[in-house]
Amino acid sequence: MVRSIILPDGKRMPALGWGNGTRGVEHSGKFAVDVGAAALREGILHIDTAQAYGTERETGEAIRLAEVPREQVWVTTKIYEGSGQPHRKVGEVRAAVQESVAKLGFIPDLLLVHTPFVPEDGRLLAFWQELENMVEDGTLQGCSLGVSNFRPQDIEILMHSARIKPVCNQIEFHPYALAHLDSLFATHSKYGIATQAYGPLQPLIAHPTGGPIKPILKRIAGILSNDSGQNVDEASVLLLWTIGKGAAAITTSSNPVNIAKMAAIDRLRDLTEAEIDEIDQAGRKVHFKGWAGHMSKDYPVPDLPEDV
Ligand SMILES: NC(=O)c1ccc[n+]([C@@H]2O[C@H](COP(=O)([O-])OP(=O)(O)OC[C@H]3O[C@@H](n4cnc5c(N)ncnc54)[C@H](OP(=O)(O)O)[C@@H]3O)[C@@H](O)[C@H]2O)c1
Repeated sequence: MVRSIILPDGKRMPALGWGNGTRGVEHSGKFAVDVGAAALREGILHIDTAQAYGTERETGEAIRLAEVPREQVWVTTKIYEGSGQPHRKVGEVRAAVQESVAKLGFIPDLLLVHTPFVPEDGRLLAFWQELENMVEDGTLQGCSLGVSNFRPQDIEILMHSARIKPVCNQIEFHPYALAHLDSLFATHSKYGIATQAYGPLQPLIAHPTGGPIKPILKRIAGILSNDSGQNVDEASVLLLWTIGKGAAAITTSSNPVNIAKMAAIDRLRDLTEAEIDEIDQAGRKVHFKGWAGHMSKDYPVPDLPEDV
C-alpha cells in the first residue's frame, strides 16, 4: 500500500517523496536522472524539485527513463528568486513558471513559492494572484498551489484574499522542530493547510548525537524488524513517524540500499499512537534544525537545548 495524503483541494499526493535538492548530494545532471529513475522504479512516486536546484529538466528525464506513466507520479516544483536577484518581481512570475513547465516537459502537480522572501517586500499577495491567474487561464491547468518555509504571518497575508488557497506548506519538520512549530501548525489547522516535511531525517543525519529520540527509534525499529521480517532502521521509523503525524515526508537518498529501505516503509504497519507520542515527548525536549537558515527570521525559536 502506497500511503497518501488527500490535499484540501481533493487531490491525492503520495506521502513519501524523493527530493533532488539536497546540499552535499550530487543531484545534478545524469546522476539526478539515474537516481530519480531508481527511486521511481522502487515505487517512490513523488519527486520534489525546484528552480533553485537546477534539476527540473532531470526530473522530467527521470520519469521518462523509469518508464512510469506521468500521471502516476506526483511532481512538486518551486518558484525562486531570479538568478542573482534578491527577489522575483511580480512581472517575472509568468515567464519563470513557463520556463519550469518547459524544463519539466509538463505542468507540475504542485507549484510552491519557495520562501516568503521570494516576492519583493509587500508584494506577496500580488505574486500569489499572478500564480492564481496562471491556474485560471490554463497555463498551470490542474496544478495545485502551495508555499514553503512560510511562517504564520505569511500565511495570514495570503488567506486574507487568496482565491486559490495554498494546499500545503513545505517546512523542515521532525521531532526536534515540534516545539518551534506549534503556532505554525495552529495556523495550518485553522485554514486546513497540509504539511510537507522536508529534512525529516535531520535528527539522525545532522544532529551531533541523534539526541533523545535515537534510542526510542532504535527500539521501535527492532520491533518492526521482528514483526515484518524486513531490515527496518531508525530512518524508516522516523519516516513512519512523519507520515503518522499527517505530513508528507520529503526525504532523499543517493544510495540504492537506502532508497529501497525508504520504499519498503509502505510494507510496514503504521506506528501506534503510543509510539508516536513517545517520540513526540522526547523530541520536544530539544530544538535542532539542519536547515536553520529557513523559518528563523521573525519567528522566534524555543528556549531549548540542542541535546539532553
Ligand atoms: N523547501 C525547502 O526549502 C527545502 C529545504 C531543504 C530540502 N528540501 C527538499 O527536501 C529534500 C530532502 O531534504 P533532506 O536532504 O534534508 O532530507 P532528509 O530526509 O533529512 O535527509 C536525507 C539524507 O538522509 C540520508 N539517508 C536516507 N536514508 C537513510 C538511511 N536509511 N540511513 C541513513 N541515512 C539515510 C541520505 O543520505 P544517502 O544518500 O547516503 O542515503 C540523504 O542525504 C531535498 O532533496 C529537497 O528536495 C526542501
